[in-house]
Amino acid sequence: MALRFSISVALLLSAWSTASCDPLVDGVLQVDCNDRYFMMAVDLAVTGEDVRFEAVDRIGAYAITEDYAAECGYTLSIFPFLGLVELRASYFSCHTDQNDEAFMFRFNLITNEEGEEVIYALNQTCSPSVPFSSREVVCEVNYMEVSLRSDLTCSSEMSDDWNALGPAYWSSTSEWQVTLQKTDEVMPPMNLSEARKQGYMFDLSQGRIVFRTPYGQPDSYSTEVNGVAVEVVRATLFSRKSWVVFLVDLVAACSTNEGSYDGSYMVWKAPDGLYPSLNGTQISVGLNGDLVEQAVAEQMGVLMEKNTTTVHISIPTNAEGGYRKSLVNGGIFEFYLFHLYMRQITVDEDYLETVVLYHRILITPLLPCHLVTEELAILEEGLFVIFLGNVPEDVELTSVQLNEQEFAVPFTNDSSYSITKVFYPNSTHSYTMTVPLNDSVVTQQFSKENATMLHKLDVNFTLTVPGNDPYYHKASVMASVNISPPVLAAVCTESGISFKLDHLPSLSLWELTIGSNVLTPELATKRGYTMCNDSQSLLLDVPLFTLGYEYRNITVTGFLGTFEVLVRDRNTSKVQTSTVKTCRFNSTGLVLCSTDGWMTVVADLSAVLPSGEIPARTHLTNEHCGPREADGTRVLFSFPLNSCGSTIKLTRGNVTYRNKIFYNLNMNSIDADTATEGATVQCAYPLAGLHRLFSEYNFESEGAGFGRIVYTKHPTAVLPSPTAPLRTTVAPQKTMMPMKYLPAFHPSVRYIKVSRGTKGYLQIKQKAVHF
Ligand SMILES: *[C@@H]1O[C@H](CO)[C@@H](O)[C@H](O)[C@H]1NC(C)=O
Ligand SMILES: *[C@@H]1O[C@H](CO)[C@@H](O)[C@H](O)[C@H]1NC(C)=O
Ligand SMILES: *[C@@H]1O[C@H](CO)[C@@H](O)[C@H](O)[C@H]1NC(C)=O
Ligand SMILES: *[C@@H]1O[C@H](CO)[C@@H](O)[C@H](O)[C@H]1NC(C)=O
Ligand SMILES: *[C@@H]1O[C@H](CO)[C@@H](O)[C@H](O)[C@H]1NC(C)=O
Ligand SMILES: *[C@@H]1O[C@H](CO)[C@@H](O)[C@H](O)[C@H]1NC(C)=O
Ligand SMILES: *[C@@H]1O[C@H](CO)[C@@H](O)[C@H](O)[C@H]1NC(C)=O
Ligand SMILES: *[C@@H]1O[C@H](CO)[C@@H](O)[C@H](O)[C@H]1NC(C)=O
Ligand SMILES: *[C@@H]1O[C@H](CO)[C@@H](O)[C@H](O)[C@H]1NC(C)=O
Ligand SMILES: *[C@@H]1O[C@H](CO)[C@@H](O)[C@H](O)[C@H]1NC(C)=O
Ligand SMILES: *[C@@H]1O[C@H](CO)[C@@H](O)[C@H](O)[C@H]1NC(C)=O
Ligand SMILES: *[C@@H]1O[C@H](CO)[C@@H](O)[C@H](O)[C@H]1NC(C)=O
Repeated sequence: MALRFSISVALLLSAWSTASCDPLVDGVLQVDCNDRYFMMAVDLAVTGEDVRFEAVDRIGAYAITEDYAAECGYTLSIFPFLGLVELRASYFSCHTDQNDEAFMFRFNLITNEEGEEVIYALNQTCSPSVPFSSREVVCEVNYMEVSLRSDLTCSSEMSDDWNALGPAYWSSTSEWQVTLQKTDEVMPPMNLSEARKQGYMFDLSQGRIVFRTPYGQPDSYSTEVNGVAVEVVRATLFSRKSWVVFLVDLVAACSTNEGSYDGSYMVWKAPDGLYPSLNGTQISVGLNGDLVEQAVAEQMGVLMEKNTTTVHISIPTNAEGGYRKSLVNGGIFEFYLFHLYMRQITVDEDYLETVVLYHRILITPLLPCHLVTEELAILEEGLFVIFLGNVPEDVELTSVQLNEQEFAVPFTNDSSYSITKVFYPNSTHSYTMTVPLNDSVVTQQFSKENATMLHKLDVNFTLTVPGNDPYYHKASVMASVNISPPVLAAVCTESGISFKLDHLPSLSLWELTIGSNVLTPELATKRGYTMCNDSQSLLLDVPLFTLGYEYRNITVTGFLGTFEVLVRDRNTSKVQTSTVKTCRFNSTGLVLCSTDGWMTVVADLSAVLPSGEIPARTHLTNEHCGPREADGTRVLFSFPLNSCGSTIKLTRGNVTYRNKIFYNLNMNSIDADTATEGATVQCAYPLAGLHRLFSEYNFESEGAGFGRIVYTKHPTAVLPSPTAPLRTTVAPQKTMMPMKYLPAFHPSVRYIKVSRGTKGYLQIKQKAVHF
């Protein structure tokens, strides 16, 4: 707000220091020698509200009380909400020292500092640059003042009202007398000191006749001029010197219109031409003592309309130079205050100029401020957003209660809530607050019917207005969030996969399944899972080769095992989410008996192969079936169950496919007859679960078979000739190595597989082989 008092304190104080050598008075904000008055503004924050003034002249100091101010031409206005006190003094005020064109104002500023009165002497000399007009009428806030040039020639036209002259003829003294006239009633004359006692001030020194009266004097009267209320005091001042009577007609008339607010403008009215005018009235207007012409005023938004009889001044609430203040009174209200300054200049038929000056404090009624709140939930971002707008500039958000928990604003940096403040050109600001939907401060209510979680946040904003009680503004926001199915955490362990699910109230909406089988303690026991379900969470350990695993990327070194846990809607059994975990496991000892009739074996032959023999040269019963992959010790075979020379055996409800891994001691021979048996591998399927046997090349089993590797024991090891020539590889991936004989060995088979179905088991049979 463009305070007229915003001129820098430093500048003002230096103005003082050039005008006087008084110790600088802290807190004097502004001193202004206006053309028509002297003004001084003091900062209440520095002086405290207990501040008084005295007018000082050569004789003494006079306390400026309310009555004394009105009689003597002082106006004291305290604006606590602006934090300042303003003293205005007329150039013709009682204790002003006039010296030619210079006027000296002296005041004591008295503050109360911790119970002790401190007096600061201030003085200022002003020389108004614009000479006073023949007649000057000041309609101050607390008094009316008329001053005339005392050397005026007689008006060509005498007053028609000879009544007022009557007492002059009866007066026997040359002393100045005054009569007051109330409409048609003429009061008895009195001398000036008597008049002074009644509150009327006359001064006939310094070339001007000055008459000042407070408003509401017994002899004043109110009337309406052109529809506008006006207060009038008519005084006739006379003096008789032998047969000559001097008669001065003094009329103080001011509009007492207090202004009205029409919803957007503060409108103030004054009659045009209260004083006779030859060619109309010239009007200037302004706020805070600055007068501007009509066009400039209109640029400031101040409208000046003059119809034939009345002047209308319309000030918009946002006018530059106005003051705005919020206050709390069961709501937030605001009012606007304007210090209107208006000048009317008229010229009468004698070309004598009359200047009428108005000082008016116009205050709008209390206008409600409508705070705006908007609440929304942005589900995609998981946020509540609460907007609080239209907050007046002098209203500050100091804290918020989120579901009755108090948080100071601004939030700390580590807070998960945020608040941003935005300022608008219309002197309001807004706050936008975000709170995560899943924050602990947000209440969540589970609705099983709708499968939703109701998130609710009650906000209680604490807004503070200086000098007022806090104001609380309420907002509430809710969001119904579809509950997303739970996601399990999964980790690989050495022997399988572990799943974990934290219990939430919404869990009752869902069920966990392995494939189509609902996960129950019974299922877990049957399949060999370890399940631990306590009040906090559910832990599920799925050992490798239990039912439910999928295997991929099988190599001699390792393979991938995948286990999937599904989350299904408990009512519809529709799969909502799945947690799939794939882990890498070591292959050693792996036998997979798949449901579609394939046997996949990873065997570590290091224990059975003679030293130096190369696993890559191994084969199955049918010597054309070589390993798919081999390294220094391990081989990977993968073949249809009934191929590669497998034998099929039906025993007690099982069908067993069996094959053997052979190696050739004779490096030049690939003849099966010379091959040595290294291990037996087999897959057994329960007959009951078998849909189709290998009568054709077609196999289908309900469950995976039971695999087994049986390594052949070698009692002796014979080293071959070291000079034996190397054989070239048959298959590119096979590496040839010198043959070695190793003693029989019992390897520890790591896994026996089971691709899909029941638990695998391991059995190692020892078999003596003699060379
Ligand atoms: C005004 O103030 C100045 C500086 O303090 C001082 O010298 C001067 O005498 C004062 N004038 C009067 C009339 O007190
Ligand atoms: C003014 O009038 C009052 C009452 O009529 C009288 O007591 C007083 O002496 C007069 N003052 C002067 C200065 O004549
Ligand atoms: C009235 O006439 C005087 C003298 O001619 C002139 O100075 C003044 O500006 C006029 N005022 C208006 C309001 O026209
Ligand atoms: C001038 O304003 C007065 C007071 O508002 C009103 O009563 C009068 O009708 C207006 N006259 C014209 C001509 O607009
Ligand atoms: C908070 O963040 C602001 C801006 O990022 C930074 O200026 C301020 O120092 C931070 N305060 C603390 C206590 O970290
Ligand atoms: C202030 O401006 C903002 C943004 O343009 C607007 O939303 C708000 O309603 C305005 N407030 C008032 C009191 O005009
Ligand atoms: C809330 O959700 C965000 C992401 O949506 C997540 O990062 C945060 O950990 C969650 N907080 C709580 C308390 O659940
Ligand atoms: C807001 O907070 C204040 C202060 O705690 C309390 O007096 C007021 O009742 C609260 N308002 C609501 C609507 O909760
Ligand atoms: C785990 O326990 C909770 C109750 O504690 C029960 O609602 C849930 O069905 C149980 N889950 C399983 C898979 O048994
Ligand atoms: C599994 O094998 C496929 C192709 O056979 C390959 O693209 C993929 O990268 C392998 N995955 C891993 C984890 O080795
Ligand atoms: C898998 O085998 C590698 C070496 O082949 C070994 O370092 C690792 O510890 C084994 N991992 C497990 C789980 O046995
Ligand atoms: C089938 O073989 C498995 C493993 O060899 C064995 O446990 C099971 O008892 C056999 N089934 C029948 C019916 O003999």
